[in-house]
Formats: sequence, C-alpha cells, structure tokens
Amino acid sequence: MLSEFLLSEMTRLGEQDALPLHRQLYEALRRAMLDGKLAAGERLPSSRDLAQDLNLSRNTVVAAINQLSVEGYLASRVGSGTYVNDSVPRALPGQASRRAGGPARASAPVGRLSARGVALSTTFCATELEVQPFTPGIADFSAFPLTLWQRLQNKHWRMTYPDMLDYASSGGHAPLRRAVADYLRVFRSVQLDADQVIITTGTQQSLELCARLLADHGDTVWAEDPAYWGAVKAFMATGLHIHPVEVDTEGIHPTEADNAQPPRLIYLTPSHQYPTGAVMSLQRRHQLLATARAHGAWVLEDDYDSEYRFSGPPISSLEGLDTDGRVLYMGTFSKVLYPGIKLGYLVVPKAQVAAFKQAHYDLNRPGQMPQQAALAEFIEMGHFSSALRRARQSYAERRHCLLQALAPVLSEHSDGPRITGAEQGLHLCLRLPSQVNDQALAQRLAQQGLTVRPLSAYCLARQDLRGLVIGYGYAPLADIARYGPVLAAAVRQELSEPPTR
Ligand SMILES: Cc1ncc(COP(=O)(O)O)c(C=O)c1O
Repeated sequence: MLSEFLLSEMTRLGEQDALPLHRQLYEALRRAMLDGKLAAGERLPSSRDLAQDLNLSRNTVVAAINQLSVEGYLASRVGSGTYVNDSVPRALPGQASRRAGGPARASAPVGRLSARGVALSTTFCATELEVQPFTPGIADFSAFPLTLWQRLQNKHWRMTYPDMLDYASSGGHAPLRRAVADYLRVFRSVQLDADQVIITTGTQQSLELCARLLADHGDTVWAEDPAYWGAVKAFMATGLHIHPVEVDTEGIHPTEADNAQPPRLIYLTPSHQYPTGAVMSLQRRHQLLATARAHGAWVLEDDYDSEYRFSGPPISSLEGLDTDGRVLYMGTFSKVLYPGIKLGYLVVPKAQVAAFKQAHYDLNRPGQMPQQAALAEFIEMGHFSSALRRARQSYAERRHCLLQALAPVLSEHSDGPRITGAEQGLHLCLRLPSQVNDQALAQRLAQQGLTVRPLSAYCLARQDLRGLVIGYGYAPLADIARYGPVLAAAVRQELSEPPTR
C-alpha cells in the first residue's frame, strides 16, 4: 500500500521534473507523511525492504531517509528503527495536497507554512535559554571595549558623507576588506588579495551566498556529522540535499558510501570541528582536497573560532593548501567582538569574485558602511589585536578552571568520559559513554540554570555519539568556578546510575 503510493508519486515526479531518484523518494515520503499515509509515530519499513519494494538501491533509500531525518520529519530509535516524528504536520482534511513543482501554491490555504518553513522552524532550533553559564558558542561580549567603540562609531557617523549611507557595493568598505585580508594572510595563511574579500552579515549569510551561487536546488552538500546547526539550516533554506559524513578524531572522513553521493559542496570546520573540536590532520586535508577535486566540488571552510588557540601547534587554514581555487574561506566577528555586530567575511576565489559581488549586491543589498569604517579603524589602530589578546588571556583562565572542575569525572577508558577539542575556541566537548542519555542530562542541568548542549542533538544521521558541549566563553571566571563543580557532580551522578535508558 505504502510502496504503491510511493511508486506512483515517484513516477509522477520523474515525469514532471528531472529530479534524481533519492530526491523523488524524499518528496514521495514527505508527501505520504503530510497526507497522513504515514502517521505520526508510525514506523517506517526498513531501508532494505523499501529498496526491494521500490526497486531502488539501498544508498538511494538511505539518502532520502537521512535527508528527512535531518529536516526533522523522521527520528531513529536505536535498535528499533525509524519513525515519523510526532511534530510532522498533517494536511487539513479535504485540503488538496500541494504537489512539488505543481501549480497548487496559489490555492494553498492562507497561513500555512511551506514544508521548508515547517522544517526550518521546527528542527535544530535555538532555545530561549541561550545565555546562561556554559552556553556554547557565545563570547563574553561584556568585555568588549564599548566606550572606545562608541567613540569610533561617533567619529565615523560625524564624518559620514552621503555615499556611506548608500548600499555597500564592491563587497564592502575597502579599508575593512584590506584590514581583513592583511589579518588572514598573516595569521591564517590564507592566500588572497583584498579584492577577494566580501563583507557579509556573518557566516550565515556567507553560507547562504555560497549555497545559492555554487549549487542548484536538489544538489548534494556534504555536511560534517555531527554538524553546526546554522550551516544545516542555511542548506535547508537553499533546498540542498544534505548528506551527512561522519567526523572522527582527524575530522571529516568520507567513505566509499559517501563518495557514491557525489557532492557539489563540502562544508567543514577543519581547525576546530564544531562541535567535537577535532582538528583535521594534514593528511586528511590533502585527501579531502583531492576528493573535492575528483568530484568537482567546492569546499566551504568555516573558520569560526581560530582566533582562540590555547595549546597545541598553530593550525593554518585549509584554504592555504588549496592549489586550484576551490576553497571558499569564511570567518566572523561574532566571537571576537560581539554577536549583534553582524559582520563577517567571505574569501572568494579570484575567478568568482565578480559574480559573488554582483549577486551579493542584488540579493542582500548590503549596508552598514559607517559601522564597517569604524571597524576598519578599530583593526588598523591595533584595538582589535589588544581586544583579542585580553580575550585570549581571559578565556584561557576560564578554560583552565572548567578543565579542573571536570577532571574528577574523566576516565582512562576509551568509551569512558573524556574531553575533546579543548585546545581552541570557546567550548569543549565532554564525551560520555554511549548508554548515557545526554539530552535528559542537559535538561536536568537546564533546570539548575546551566545551559549545555547534548552532543547527540548535533548528530544528523549517526547514533553513536553522546556527550555535552560546554562553553566557557560567556560565563565569568567566578561563575565557572562556582558552577563547574555543579556540572561535574551532575555528570558523576548520571554515570553512577545504572544504564536503564
Ligand atoms: C561553527 C560556527 N560557525 C559560525 C558561527 C557564527 O556565525 P555568524 O557569523 O553567523 O554569527 C557559529 C556560531 O556559533 C558557529 O558555531
């Protein structure tokens, strides 16, 4: 019954649009769920059975199921299969299905979100408890030199000539692009001219721009598994097929099965994998570039927290190893200055610069020129370096304090609690044994006023990771000293309980 519906949907979709098979199956399954043919809570047939019934390869079925899991339609339960998520909305009784690519959009009822809108607003959502001790990904913006910044802003507003109130053309304010290029050349070994720098409103916009300009709807993007939610959302929003590729201690590690899903884009965080903290080894970097070359894929390097390196050898950018202009490098001022500054940068290969600037101007109508001018001066006058030096010192103390608090819960066993990714950035990852329910543990900690993120919540397809992603950037040292032991005690209690879940 289900397979008949899926087959007829796929046939219709194949005739209507030249969609690849995994995309046809994805659309057909999604339609089955929205129409209630697969009800909330219902178990999906195994990928093997589906492949047999539909005469498809197992890879095709797994790709469609993975994408639906990433978008929150399906959820896997260890050892018991894949189920339709309870939050999947049903089409209203009597309401015509909106068929992909069909003309029904005009007749869709007012007020109903698109399927993409549902996915974007229900999966990988940030919580309101964003800023509490141990929230990962947030810097201590209370340390930002506000008075100095206000003075610089005022100066540039006073000096502003009418052109500065216009949209920002040519990729942004030239002195800021020069300052960014100088910084990246020296500190991140990025090979670039200032002309290749495009100022964006941050990594989110850089990613969306790359996805729009370098891939078409339905193309495959490889994303690290576990992954940065913001990137996943950018790819969902641009209609890409997200193929999760597992990360190990040396970073992203594509297998034969992954290579059977050729990517158009590969998104990674090689200096400090988000969230596990793995540093991509040199050998893996060369392999990844060779793989990208073989697939004709673009590589999107998100270097989101490389400014803070506390121990271990310095890690240069992946872009610095690129010999054929396929890496697009992006960074953000969110972590060094403050998140609401909404300024970041994208470094585009020379041959694509004109296209990116044109599309950025047309799609995003960039602005904030007086703010960009103030930031350029902030960097040129050495205030950026001083702010960074102070922040590094302060985060190093917080990190040390957190590591000390967690030391008693660590174990020598390979599957026991251990810390990864503490050499860099504003967070570390406390890996926990696979029987621990990290989501319940994070919820219990939230009730005590501590926000940590369960590692399993960052996983796209894999089931094997448990742990806590713990930030030390936001909370002052005194809070880390006070709450670190509370966190450690909760973990210890969790570990001493019999594994009933
Ligand atoms: C991996 C990663 N990239 C980028 C960002 C920030 O990007 P944006 O410039 O959009 O604030 C974050 C923020 O937490 C992040 O964790």
